[in-house]
Amino acid sequence: MPPVLMTESTDAGRRMHLLSAADVTRAEVESWMHRADTLRQMSRADCRKILADAVVAALFYEPSTRTRLSFETAVQRLGGRVVTAENALENSSAKKGERLEDVFRVVGCYADAIVIRHHESNTMAEAAPHSPVPVINAGAGAGEHPTQALLDVYTIRRELGRVDHLNVCVMGDLRYGRTVHSLLTLLAQFRGITVTLLHPESLGLPDTLRATLAARGLALRCGVSVETALAEADVVYQTRIQTERLASQQEAAGVERFRLTPDRVARLKPTARILHPLPRVDEIAMEVDADPRAAYFRQVENGLYLRMAVLESLVRG
Ligand code: CP
Repeated sequence: MPPVLMTESTDAGRRMHLLSAADVTRAEVESWMHRADTLRQMSRADCRKILADAVVAALFYEPSTRTRLSFETAVQRLGGRVVTAENALENSSAKKGERLEDVFRVVGCYADAIVIRHHESNTMAEAAPHSPVPVINAGAGAGEHPTQALLDVYTIRRELGRVDHLNVCVMGDLRYGRTVHSLLTLLAQFRGITVTLLHPESLGLPDTLRATLAARGLALRCGVSVETALAEADVVYQTRIQTERLASQQEAAGVERFRLTPDRVARLKPTARILHPLPRVDEIAMEVDADPRAAYFRQVENGLYLRMAVLESLVRG
């Protein structure tokens, strides 16, 4: 029999893979956020029944702390087990030249879902149709990181009580920062959002993404001073420079103008929130952490529950 290629959704219309924020509906976002709230309240014993006997494979071709450990914790909290390949570029048969579509075919014989971080932007999405089990994008090169965007939106809703009608300021490396790409794509689903872009000259949003977001109706502002943008922001989404992806250090010239310091945080609205996907290098001064508006460690915890909700949905349907 010829192989059956599995696309974004199953014949029953249920989601098969989670590869891009662009194919996530607002209804799914709302459903996963609601379920994350419920899972947060449930006893650990009840949570462990949800994925009892399931096996999830975690394949990480690039370094990770939060995404890998939160997904692995989420599987275990749901009663499942994890098989893992860390540093997979070196420690798996990728080293021998195995193609990702074959990896998905093989790992799909062992596991009920595959969580994967890959160093290339598009390879995962191209190979996913060959997987017999759901594939979840845990970060793809300088492309996308959809579950980070989901937990970012979940954090905004938990902190501010809504996602619609907000001024969001995204700051740092908008060119290579995949979390920003997925977050803005997801925010385009919400109403009345204005996004102010603050970045070193060479690290703006990719042109194609910018055009797509504009076509989807997301209001993008640039050319605003850091001080004005911060004073007007409901959400400040700070990011690190992706030094590992820069063509040369020159691309990051001027980055020091986009640092969050206590002086700058003092100008934020009392109700504003600071988010960061982490890891932080030095783009947010450590003294800012004590400010109640600094939400980035609460954001980390939210990621656990949101990823539990996504895993449950994709593995159990
Ligand atoms: N936010 C994020 O993706 O962090 P890690 O690279 O540590 O997984």
